[in-house]
Amino acid sequence: MTIDHLKTPTVALGTWAWGDSGEAGNGYFGSRLTQAGVEEIADKAHAAGFALWDTAAVYGMGRSETVLGKVLKRYARSDYRLSTKFTPQAAGTGTDPVAEMLEQSLTRLGTDYIDLYWIHNPTDVVRWTPRLIPLLKDGKVRHVGVSNHNLGEIELANRILGEAGFRVEAIQNHYSLLHRNSERAGILDYCRKHGIPFFAYMVLEQGALSGKYGSENLLPEGSSRAKHYNGLLPRLKALADRLASIGRKHAAAAPDVAMAWAIAKGTTPIVGVTKPHHIESLVRASCITLTGDDIVELQALADAAGVNTRGWWEQEM
Ligand SMILES: NC(=O)c1ccc[n+]([C@@H]2O[C@H](COP(=O)([O-])OP(=O)(O)OC[C@H]3O[C@@H](n4cnc5c(N)ncnc54)[C@H](OP(=O)(O)O)[C@@H]3O)[C@@H](O)[C@H]2O)c1
Repeated sequence: MTIDHLKTPTVALGTWAWGDSGEAGNGYFGSRLTQAGVEEIADKAHAAGFALWDTAAVYGMGRSETVLGKVLKRYARSDYRLSTKFTPQAAGTGTDPVAEMLEQSLTRLGTDYIDLYWIHNPTDVVRWTPRLIPLLKDGKVRHVGVSNHNLGEIELANRILGEAGFRVEAIQNHYSLLHRNSERAGILDYCRKHGIPFFAYMVLEQGALSGKYGSENLLPEGSSRAKHYNGLLPRLKALADRLASIGRKHAAAAPDVAMAWAIAKGTTPIVGVTKPHHIESLVRASCITLTGDDIVELQALADAAGVNTRGWWEQEM
């Protein structure tokens, strides 16, 4: 068997908020996305060489995958890579719910294979992980990863895949200046030691670390992210100001520095892109080298904010 190693980009593109687009808008993110807008995002990403798109069957209950699949039709399949997920809580009642959810994702995304397929969370690792093996064998899935798993669950999934000659090839967890639980739990070290790429999601804390939102400009009213973060924004001001001032030294902005921090920590941020100019931000973030002092100071300010941004779907690690 030839080993097709997973190639990891500097940053990946997240599309959870794309599940909010069209008539389904004003949901989790309260984003106003249009077809023309997402096409412009994709064109800029394509031109800049960002090619790994992350989604999940459950984002907007299929809508994110549908919108993404339609947009990516304008490029050759070899020009982009797809990352999507099996979510145990949404499993059907058929004989192989993983294969069935994958088929639905393939249809929505308009493709016959997924580059990187994830088990979305660790609900019943022993039951769901083996179901990835036939998908890897028949090529419908090129690589597999696990998301929101703690170290013990990662090792268990790895043992299950290892019995069939495969392995956990990537980890995807919440990781930001404000939420470093995976680092504290030794998962980053584990990934480094075993050469497993760590994909960091919510590096911008759904916009709360983007520099755009604050006490004077709250996250969109009625959205789920507003409920979670608006009350925390005053405590994030010192951190946001320092991100912005470090950014100025690099002709960059606060979100670019938050992403550069995640890159400096050896992770691949998956950034939820909702505006064409976010792609320029990714380009800047990829070019910034933070000093050790910058990193220590940013982490100290983040800790001093004393906020807990763990999502309702996450465990403590
Ligand atoms: N595996 C999992 O359980 C899991 C969980 C969560 C997320 N994810 C993945 O990770 C991705 C990223 O997470 P996320 O989208 O929830 O949050 P995020 O990347 O922390 O934040 C995204 C939000 O920040 C704003 N933004 C993005 N880029 C920006 C930039 N350059 N400058 C200023 N603002 C910017 C946008 O808000 P506005 O639209 O308001 O401008 C966007 O909706 C998701 O899309 C998804 O693919 C996975």
